[in-house]
Amino acid sequence: MIARPRSEVTEEAIRLLVDRFYARIRRDATLRPVFAAAIADDAWPAHLEKMYAFWSSVMLTSGRYKGDPVSVHRAVAGIEPPKFGNWLDIFEATARELFSPALATAFVDKAKRIAESLKLGLAFHSPTPEIWAELPPRAIPQTTLR
Ligand code: HEM
Repeated sequence: MIARPRSEVTEEAIRLLVDRFYARIRRDATLRPVFAAAIADDAWPAHLEKMYAFWSSVMLTSGRYKGDPVSVHRAVAGIEPPKFGNWLDIFEATARELFSPALATAFVDKAKRIAESLKLGLAFHSPTPEIWAELPPRAIPQTTLR
């Protein structure tokens, strides 16, 4: 019997997505080194728990996640704009495998929007904001204008 793709957001659906997504991230040639440098093997269960809470807050407005993703990502060595494309591609492929088209799109739309706001946050604190986002000139910190 072929399992019907899930079409409803539940905590269980979120766990499936997060587990499969990060299993892939950890095998991806581009992203693996970045995650491996930031998260020790024995710290992965805690990271996954945090990500269940994050997606639960985003998709179920459960308020389970408390944190500041921009500050956390600012401290991630090796994070750079093109890698967001890899991240989103893997996220989308995983969501489409597990979920109905409408549900996958709902997750992917949120992920894309959050990725954009993360990049803006990173741009704001970066000495080279222009590599992060297409910013209007006034959004670029004065100190970086020549
Ligand atoms: C190139 C893209 C990305 C990379 C390389 C990346 C990498 C990482 C790493 C290494 C951590 C763990 C940091 C630590 O605990 O020291 C982390 C945490 C996290 N990431 Fe990302 N990330 C990316 C994009 C995203 C996107 C697009 C989202 C959301 C849609 C996201 C959501 C989060 C959240 C919520 C945390 C936990 C923050 C906390 O500790 O409160 N990340 N990320």
